[in-house]
Amino acid sequence: MQNGYHQVYAAWKQDPEGFWREAAADIDWFKPPERIFSPDEGVYGRWFSEAETNTCYNCLDRHATAGRGGETAILFDSAMTGEKRRFTYDEALGEVKAIAATLLEIGIGKGDRVILYMPMVPEAVFAMLACARIGAVHSVVFGGFAASELAARIDDSGAKLVITASCGLEPGRTVAYKPLVDQAIELARMKPERCLVLQRPQLQAELAGGRDQDFEAAVARHRGAEVACVPVKSTDPLYILYTSGTTGQPKGVVRDNGGHMVALNWSMRNIYGLRPGEVFWTASDIGWVVGHSYIVYAPLIAGVTTLIYEGKPVGTPDAGVFWRIVSEYRVRVLFTAPTAFRAIRREDGEGELLRQYPMPDFRALFLAGERADPETLKWAERMFGVPVIDHWWQTETGWSIAANPLGLGALPVKHGSPTLPMPGYDIAVLDDAGHPVEAGTLGNIVIKLPLPPGCLPTLWKADDRFRSAYLDEFPGYYKTADAGCVDEDGYLFVMSRTDDIINCAGHRLSTGAMEEVCARHPDVAECAVIGVTDAVKGQVPCGFLVLKRDVSRETPAIESEVVAMIRQSIGPVAAFKTAITVNRLPKTRSGKILRGTMQKIADGIPWKMPATIDDPAILEEIAEALRKRGFGSLPM
Ligand code: COA
Ligand code: AMP
Repeated sequence: MQNGYHQVYAAWKQDPEGFWREAAADIDWFKPPERIFSPDEGVYGRWFSEAETNTCYNCLDRHATAGRGGETAILFDSAMTGEKRRFTYDEALGEVKAIAATLLEIGIGKGDRVILYMPMVPEAVFAMLACARIGAVHSVVFGGFAASELAARIDDSGAKLVITASCGLEPGRTVAYKPLVDQAIELARMKPERCLVLQRPQLQAELAGGRDQDFEAAVARHRGAEVACVPVKSTDPLYILYTSGTTGQPKGVVRDNGGHMVALNWSMRNIYGLRPGEVFWTASDIGWVVGHSYIVYAPLIAGVTTLIYEGKPVGTPDAGVFWRIVSEYRVRVLFTAPTAFRAIRREDGEGELLRQYPMPDFRALFLAGERADPETLKWAERMFGVPVIDHWWQTETGWSIAANPLGLGALPVKHGSPTLPMPGYDIAVLDDAGHPVEAGTLGNIVIKLPLPPGCLPTLWKADDRFRSAYLDEFPGYYKTADAGCVDEDGYLFVMSRTDDIINCAGHRLSTGAMEEVCARHPDVAECAVIGVTDAVKGQVPCGFLVLKRDVSRETPAIESEVVAMIRQSIGPVAAFKTAITVNRLPKTRSGKILRGTMQKIADGIPWKMPATIDDPAILEEIAEALRKRGFGSLPM
């Protein structure tokens, strides 16, 4: 018998425009789409290009107008402060309108860019929606990034305004955000005109006269204001989200309004199996795509209650906090990264804390952000007795490329596979020359163009970079930069990246960008950064430094300085704690650094001496240096 998925996927394949036309009917438009896909527009075509809409209207107004204004739209729970808040659609709308009026008063209008550098508090979500309401383009920057990363995003986006808070709360430390913002504005070539600062009781920030304004004081003046939703083109940008590229210059992924809403709304019902009024909790951060799509936009568009959580999976106060929340708020579906579960499993392997919380409404756990290792997946299945679903996607796509669609009737699970492609995605696995490989053979995972609604149309003001980074290598396809294979049943297995990106605690980091920082140290002649396997975070970066000939200083001091430089330049999120000084780096005879072999040595995986190596003794030296730090293995 055919599963619902197979019928739906076949229906999409047979008539892609008809499929998305039908999905678009569930969105409210000021001007409904007539043309569904316009192949001649944009870099590879555009979706719903003549239609007009507003994303904030679809998130809030339409539910309030439909008589649901008194129902809960947003829940907030801070494990850091103990604060709990609940907002109905009417209340959320009131807050969003007041912020929108504040933005208009400041002079922010349609198309202007606004940077958000905020902790996980409801005001951050309201500010995103307020931008959407007036057609401004937000760019949220994760709080774990340092001032120079923030400055790069201010410059690239050309933001007129920064919205921030006085602090973020991390276990054992209060992170003062305002000095980081001041430093970023100092570094930026394009100075934002204004900065709105949400003062939190844990730490008050100093405000600079003229530029800085107290968020609450500014917004309070506009409470009760009526601000209508500005009609925007379906193809107008809703947001820019910067993600790691292969250089220090991040890529500004652009998201449109119309296609994004159509795809996310479809995903809520069909992939996550959620209905309006049910509670969905995505334990991530609004600084990542998972937070944009599944804390903010998808649940609100679909009328599903969303939960904003400030805290960690463990230590705030213990590994039972996720279950306390699932139980207390009757969460139906939880979505997080496997790293959170590895952290919980390490502390509560037998599920003693889990058993303290009845969770009769809990229906499924979704995992993404990194490969869900089969061991963690099986442990979670055993603990909950509900489907545990791995799904694969990227900042660029904004929603699942491959998943097990619960709402269509879940398919049999194969551990280690995010299951099958979603409608809209025609996946192929190609060798480096662009030829399809056989089932079971590893290759480059690519998506046949056009990408479906919701995926990036381009990079911010960088069509050429978009083409060269994603489209040029395999003509007619989008390159995911993930390697993997498809088995004889069509199940996809995503194994690793084909570029220098590593995945650390579900965060996407570029080792190339870290190498750029290491190389700036005055004593460093050459360096290499690799990702080393970590039991909780999946991977952590590890740097190898070759010092200049005339350096006579102690190497531990230099290593500590490099560690501090990365924290200072990229941020604590880089989790760069290990720098090792070596005499030389292993290279091929053509001068390519053998990072893959170094990684195997560090991970304790059996490795072979590469035939092309310039000097075999160097790898032995690297292995010895790693062994001294507790990593590593012997050659086969
Ligand atoms: N603002 C400021 N600093 C932040 C921050 C923020 N929003 N988020 C993290 N940091 C800091 C942390 O305090 C830590 O600093 P430290 O080096 O001083 O300890 C550093 O950045 C690394 O943070 P993180 O990667 O979160 O590691 P952790 O050790 O604090 O916690 C986990 C490990 C697994 C518990 C945590 O990573 C986690 O909850 N992951 C969930 C996965 C997730 O949300 N992924 C997003 C994509 S789905
Ligand atoms: P990000 O853009 O930060 O969401 O990171 C996207 C990258 O994370 C992907 O290109 C993959 O390398 C990895 N990733 C995300 N989800 C999965 C998954 N379910 N399985 C394997 N890798 C994943």
